[in-house]
Amino acid sequence: MRLIDGKAVAAQIKQEIAEEVALIKDAGGKTPHLAAVLVGHDGGSETYVSSKVRTCEELGFKSTLIRYEEDVTEEELLACVNRLNDDADIDGFIVQLPLPKHISEEKITDAIDYRKDVDGFHPVNVGRMSLGMSCFLSATPAGIVELLKRYKIETKGRHCVVLGRSNIVGKPVSMLMMQKGYPGDCTVTVCHSRTENIKEICLQADIIIAALGVPGFLKGDMVKEGAVVIDVGTTRVPSNKTKSGFKLTGDVMFDEVAPKCAWITPVPGGVGPMTIVSLMKNTLLAGKKEIYSK
Ligand code: GUN
Repeated sequence: MRLIDGKAVAAQIKQEIAEEVALIKDAGGKTPHLAAVLVGHDGGSETYVSSKVRTCEELGFKSTLIRYEEDVTEEELLACVNRLNDDADIDGFIVQLPLPKHISEEKITDAIDYRKDVDGFHPVNVGRMSLGMSCFLSATPAGIVELLKRYKIETKGRHCVVLGRSNIVGKPVSMLMMQKGYPGDCTVTVCHSRTENIKEICLQADIIIAALGVPGFLKGDMVKEGAVVIDVGTTRVPSNKTKSGFKLTGDVMFDEVAPKCAWITPVPGGVGPMTIVSLMKNTLLAGKKEIYSK
């Protein structure tokens, strides 16, 4: 078994990005500027957004954090999105999900200018991704394929089983894994909460991407020898052993599954660090107007 060290790869990519930003600044170019909108005080969202802002500082980006209380109206949030769309200094922005129930995530996502949608959630970016066109790739799927690339893991003709059909991970990563070229060319099966015989399907997988958000879902007896396992799960499970009072827990029963794998990502330190780095890459591209030239 070999470990896919997302933390180390992310550190390497961060260094590459920081070097490029320094060159841009030296040449008198524009400093990439990411804005993040955070509604309410959900612990997970607070952690993710502060980590995004901190990474901006580390890499020499500008960042702006806009906070709203839980009771913000949909109209107020739409007005904020429109201001960010029109602000020429902001290259890209994200609205952290989930949003409170009274606000439509669909409406908010749709209102974001797709040229600033560094999360890659806007229908234009999702559509372009599914057609294999240049676009902002959403961060977690982009982080997963980058890990496969950096570790030169063969994907052509492999059976890739994706567990989960979310708009953020399951759907887009299944598209990327089936696309022509590397990393891709897989035969893809998508399993979800209504799938029958998940164990039998997983046992046929060369690559498993677990993105259900169910801690410890994938057990040792569901994985064949020599499989590649990518764990996308990051559920906060209460723990009295950590300072924060919770422990990030993946979808994979690591101790049982790891001995059978050719490659496996740990949680934490696998896909998670790659997600933030992918967002930074998108922000850099947005700043350079490399995907959408206007
Ligand atoms: N909530 C969970 N993951 C994400 C993400 O990648 N972007 C945003 N905006 N919200 C999230």
